[in-house]
This record gives sequence, C-alpha cells and structure tokens, in this order.
Amino acid sequence: DQKRDKSEILLAWYDEHARLMPWRVPPAQRQLGVLPDPYHVWLSEVMLQQTTVAAVRDYFVKFTQMWPTVSDLAAADDGDVMAAWAGLGYYARARNLLKCARVVAHDLEGVFPDNEAALLKLPGIGPYTAAAVSAIAFDVPATVLDGNVERVMARQFAVMEPLPDSKEALRELAASRTPQNRAGDYAQAVMDLGATVCTPRSPHCGVCPWADGCVARAQGIAAELPKKRKK
Ligand code: ADE
Repeated sequence: DQKRDKSEILLAWYDEHARLMPWRVPPAQRQLGVLPDPYHVWLSEVMLQQTTVAAVRDYFVKFTQMWPTVSDLAAADDGDVMAAWAGLGYYARARNLLKCARVVAHDLEGVFPDNEAALLKLPGIGPYTAAAVSAIAFDVPATVLDGNVERVMARQFAVMEPLPDSKEALRELAASRTPQNRAGDYAQAVMDLGATVCTPRSPHCGVCPWADGCVARAQGIAAELPKKRKK
C-alpha cells in the first residue's frame, strides 16, 4: 500500500545515506537487532534541541567519556556538569539534564522508560524528546516532529496554513507516514532528509527519494514552504 511504499522508499534511501553520528547505531546494525543505549539517545536529543549536529558532536563524546552511564551523570557535581556544558548555551537544559539523570538513577534504577507517556513525566523531556527516545532507543512507532520533519511534511502535502497554526495538522500528516517497523531508523531518516535534501532555502528535489508525489514540488512552491505566521 501507499503508506508502506513511502516509508520503505525513505528507509532504502537511509540505508545508503544515513549520516554517521557518535550516538547513532547505523541502519545495517539496527537491522541485525542492535539498538543504541537509551542514555546516549536521550543525551544527544537534549543537546540537539537548540544546537546543530556539528556543534553537539564533541560535547556528546566528552559527556559520555566523563559520565559513561546515567548513574555516573546523576552522581556528578552540578558545577562539573555546568562547566562541561559551557558553550552549548540554553543552560536550563543542563540543569534539567541533571534533574532527569537523578530521577532515572534514583527512582528508576538507572533504566530509561521505553514509552512516550512515562518519558514525558521526566524533567526536561517534552513531546519531541519523548517521541525521539522511544522511537530511536526502543523502536516504538512514535511520531517525531521537529523543524525538519515539519518542513518535509508541509512540502509533501503542500500545507499552505502557516506555522505554528499548522502544527497539529503537520503532526497528523507525519503520523500517517510513520511505519510500524524500523521506527527508529524511519524517525532519523526523515530528520536526515530534512537536514540534507529537503533543506529550507533551496531543496535538492533532484535527489529526493520522496520527490515523486511531493505536492509542493509539483506546484513549484517547495522552497516557499512551510509558511510562517508573523509573530
Ligand atoms: N536532530 C535531532 N535529532 C536528530 C537525529 N537523531 N538525527 C538527525 N538529526 C537530528
């Protein structure tokens, strides 16, 4: 069927084009049953929230060397963690990071929850992070909606309503394409597609695995979407 075809086309693209990141398990390994450490997924997703992949890379490596498990991080001095975070910005993230590590270490025996609802209750974990951790760390078919995914969906379906009003519509469109299988690879595939192909200014439609059936591309308006409401 159509939904299956769409996700399978994107997953085949991801098998060839997945970006290597220190927190990622590559698709070939995931298909052999290897999943990433949920601590690594959570840490990377918190760091990536307002920061680029390039800037996060070295910080992620440093944090996991200094604190190899969530319980190590939970036992760290606040000042050491804030010092290690220096340069990443948005310092409330670092304070919530420590709070969350301490809840997981002390109340959950160092084990991250494997579902969105339980993840959402933890400090600093919002809808995006809960969906990303459950999909990427546990292969739960959660719908991950970040700026990249919003842009891809706005173009695929030519959503003319501006953000943020269109956010729930975009979430439903994104959910309509989320497969039951390989949910973690799929979530990362849509984000990579948005970051490398379906880019904000001049999308590379000639190499896009989803160009076929992209309504905005057919209408010649891909680069103009998503619309944004003036604040
Ligand atoms: N941006 C935030 N999280 C990401 C991920 N897991 N893969 C690619 N881009 C991302």
